[in-house]
Amino acid sequence: MPSEPDAFPDALRAALSDTGALGATVLQLASRLDDSPVRVEAALDTLRRDGEVLRMGRGLWMLRDFERLETRDDFVDPAEFVERFRREEGIGLARYNGPITFRSNESTPVHRWWPYVQGYSAEFVEGMIARRGLPPGASVLDPFAGSGTTLVEARRSGLRAVGFELLPPAVLAARVKTRFELGPDDLGRAGEAVVRATDRTTPGVLPFLRETRRQFDGATLDELRRLRNVLPPEGSPVADAVRVAFGRILIPSSRLHRSPCLGYGRRRDPGGPTPVERFRAAILEMQSDLEGAAATRDRWGPPALVEARDARHEGAPPGSIDLAITSPPYVNGMDYVMNYKIDLAWLGYARSYADLRALRGAEVACDNLPRSETAAYRALRDLPDPWLREILGRLRDNIARKRNYRRDDMHAVVHRYFADLRRVLVRVHRALKPDGRLVLVVGDSLLAGVYVPGDLLLARIGRRAGFSIEAIEVARTRRSGQRRSFGLRESVVTLRRTRAGSAPRGTRR
Ligand SMILES: C[S@@+](CC[C@H](N)C(=O)[O-])C[C@H]1O[C@@H](n2cnc3c(N)ncnc32)[C@H](O)[C@@H]1O
Repeated sequence: MPSEPDAFPDALRAALSDTGALGATVLQLASRLDDSPVRVEAALDTLRRDGEVLRMGRGLWMLRDFERLETRDDFVDPAEFVERFRREEGIGLARYNGPITFRSNESTPVHRWWPYVQGYSAEFVEGMIARRGLPPGASVLDPFAGSGTTLVEARRSGLRAVGFELLPPAVLAARVKTRFELGPDDLGRAGEAVVRATDRTTPGVLPFLRETRRQFDGATLDELRRLRNVLPPEGSPVADAVRVAFGRILIPSSRLHRSPCLGYGRRRDPGGPTPVERFRAAILEMQSDLEGAAATRDRWGPPALVEARDARHEGAPPGSIDLAITSPPYVNGMDYVMNYKIDLAWLGYARSYADLRALRGAEVACDNLPRSETAAYRALRDLPDPWLREILGRLRDNIARKRNYRRDDMHAVVHRYFADLRRVLVRVHRALKPDGRLVLVVGDSLLAGVYVPGDLLLARIGRRAGFSIEAIEVARTRRSGQRRSFGLRESVVTLRRTRAGSAPRGTRR
């Protein structure tokens, strides 16, 4: 029933008060008030002129009272957590100076072969390796290897590199990038053979993704299908490298972009390079980088081991690793499967939406997980850290108050996230030699109006798994996707293996 005219602003205020700092869109408010979006929009406009409400990003409206989260009784802000951490753990935040994001890798030989927005910089890994002063042949592990930044730098520094990763195109990229001995001429010949065969073949079947025809223009799609039709099967170093070159041109040839999430963006310049031209350029760049790498051959470590493994359930042999450097997915961060679905589909790693779902279920929890994957985590039991009880409880209550938040089991997603990461920390602890270090690059988050200090929580969970917390260094600040004005950070957490650890309660689930 539509509300009475004069009661409407009050009803609207009440609805906005319910949604709190999370905000709500016009359509959400209209559905909650059982009224028309036009009327809601007009009333919001009046309230805005009176200074009562404000419009945040993404079409969300909220009461001005919620503008400053810090003034809400139930809001625990970043500074408060940092202070608590200092009191309880005896450690304050320090600063890490130097480039940390993948951006600089985009122009760095070898690293640029497969741009991975979620990766970190080669300089960062180089610096962390140098800090430890490891002898040649020492072992470096990355349980979330991504595109292989750690592994490339470890091998380049004369170390033995071991990496696990679940996303198949990332596994492929990490393998290819660490095979420094690949001959540039062999690669050039294989690339040319693909180009020649493309002229003679017909377009192969379309990948299963429903939006494929929307993602590419007709001529581009046709050429990509022919290119894909003649790619050599995965398995040999040359074939794998050719496939990476193909994977790399997919997004630049499409109407999509990653910034960092996959979405439709600017139209592709119709006069831009064709897929075959892009493919040729990618092969040429790889050849040139391989020639450059060959000059340092006498310093390379042994061939890297890159395994398609779930880091939650499989680890390196006990006591085999000197240093682990990694960056896990962030709390509620990227849905890697969604973001790399084009690569997954075109390279044949996923043949259906069910394949995508299965892969997502195995990755560390993100907020697109099916509900079946979070059911066991709804109860606030077996939490890997006492701070989580307070944070998850607040998250659950905030979402219950809002009622129309995207998913009402968000606290279970976050619970599963930390349970997943605890398993990995326990495995890395076991794999490290005594006194070995685990260096984690991780961010904090603002979820449904609740601040989650991911870096501090992981450090504390690590301590319970048998590490001592050596340092938390803030590498950069970021903006919250939920509230642009809210500053988040990205930290380098260094943990030291001090004692033999045993799996804490709950890791066997
Ligand atoms: C932040 S990225 C790592 C990026 C990497 N440091 C780089 O520079 O390319 C995190 C990675 O963890 C992987 N991942 C998520 N869950 C995993 C699991 N259970 N086992 C292994 N890898 C996983 C994701 O596929 C993603 O590539």
